[in-house]
Amino acid sequence: MDIQKALDKIPGPVGILGAIDGDNHRIITVSWFTQVSKNPPQLLVCVSPQSSVHPIINKSKEFVLTILSKDMEEVARICGHTSENVSDKLDTAKLTTKTSKKVKVASINEGIFNLECQVTGEFTGGDHTIFVGEVLYVDEIKEEKPLIFYNRDLVTVDYSLSK
Ligand SMILES: Cc1cc2nc3c(=O)[nH]c(=O)nc-3n(C[C@H](O)[C@H](O)[C@H](O)COP(=O)(O)O)c2cc1C
Repeated sequence: MDIQKALDKIPGPVGILGAIDGDNHRIITVSWFTQVSKNPPQLLVCVSPQSSVHPIINKSKEFVLTILSKDMEEVARICGHTSENVSDKLDTAKLTTKTSKKVKVASINEGIFNLECQVTGEFTGGDHTIFVGEVLYVDEIKEEKPLIFYNRDLVTVDYSLSK
């Protein structure tokens, strides 16, 4: 029985989760997130208590989730590693930011779109914290294929079923 091997085969999109406390802006790569409500629009994201964004989201009660496109594999890898400060990750990953509309956390210009969220619930889920966030605003949605985390690898989707 290899439970983790099976769970690794559940495909999921990849995003950058951002949070800010004062001028301490932090970003991490995430793939454990999904919609939980349509009205109001809400999603959940599972965050390790060890990650830099965890105490910040806990305190600020807001975050930005940026959905990555298929050509952002390197960005996912860079932001998936610990770094002292956000400029290291932004510079290395060649990411640029812009002011968000509804939250203090900056949005990211690259990626398919940014979801600005306010935390409405927080639950313990084993070794991660489940933050539920209401989506307050989404910026322009680009027509690009998403990056997918599947079988511990970064891949993309083929929408066609006709082969
Ligand atoms: C593809 C991928 C998906 C990840 N998904 C999550 C996730 O859903 N939740 C989480 O807490 N960490 C996730 N991580 C791990 C964090 O991105 C990683 O621990 C990161 O180093 C945290 O950055 P920090 O130490 O600077 O806070 C993922 C990493 C990768 C590469």
